Amino acid sequence: MIDIPLPEAADEPAPVVHRQVTDAESRRASRAWWDLDADDYQAEHGSFLGDLDFVWCPEGVREADAGLLGAVRGKQVLELGAGATAGARWLAGQGAQVTALDLSAGMLRHARAAESRTGVHVPLVQADALALPFADSVFDIVCTAFGAIPFVADSGAAMREVARVLRPGGRWVFSITHPMRWVFWDEPDESGLVARNSYFDRTPYVETDENGTPTYVEQHRTVGDRIRELVAAGFVLDDMVEPEWPEGHEQIWGQWSPLRGRLFPGTAIFVAHLP
Ligand SMILES: C[S@@+](CC[C@H](N)C(=O)[O-])C[C@H]1O[C@@H](n2cnc3c(N)ncnc32)[C@H](O)[C@@H]1O
Repeated sequence: MIDIPLPEAADEPAPVVHRQVTDAESRRASRAWWDLDADDYQAEHGSFLGDLDFVWCPEGVREADAGLLGAVRGKQVLELGAGATAGARWLAGQGAQVTALDLSAGMLRHARAAESRTGVHVPLVQADALALPFADSVFDIVCTAFGAIPFVADSGAAMREVARVLRPGGRWVFSITHPMRWVFWDEPDESGLVARNSYFDRTPYVETDENGTPTYVEQHRTVGDRIRELVAAGFVLDDMVEPEWPEGHEQIWGQWSPLRGRLFPGTAIFVAHLP
């Protein structure tokens, strides 16, 4: 890791720990973290996400407007890292045959509650994106909004799993934090405007408990890494969408804010297909 001297900051956030972690450590940390965080996540973001809406990112891009998945009616769709599954329910409402998958029972508990509220049911599967419990070539579309991909150590393997369960011609669309955000602290204000970390340092961000056991893990890949992962898994890249911060959108989501969003991208959405 490159040692970059940090400028003075008034409110310095907790020190960022960067270290290598295995897939097993990432899985354990993610499962426990998202189980623990599920209530807070829904309390904070539930109204923005809605119960029956597919929102790609904090910039507020909706699948209803963007159409990144193409026509979904009658298609077999798998949503990974689906959380409370508002997106999956929206897809079901558009006539898709949807399965929603998440690693966390805590997040899927919120999915069940929202199903009761809305009366829209989709099959829920608790599993790891690295080991999808499905046969080969069964889905037409796989998608995720900020699910799974940033949290697995071997994201190349996750791309291969997605390719395995997709039919020829199938589409894979995923949104992630824009890789250039890695350079900055995850702060929505001015302190998040100063480049502090190397874009080229792929050492994961890890939070640990007092015993040094990882409790939260987030992975970074450059844009080029993501393209190489896709191509290596057999995908053709169709687009990489970098949503601009919409005029009049004032809602802050963690590190995503109007201040930063007007200066540089916060989200990258990759659109790819199998030949
Ligand atoms: C930032 S949340 C996004 C949830 C939802 N897609 C949304 O837009 O609100 C990340 C989700 O990915 C899930 N996740 C993390 N690692 C995963 C993995 N290895 N396999 C499947 N899901 C995973 C978490 O449990 C969590 O629900």
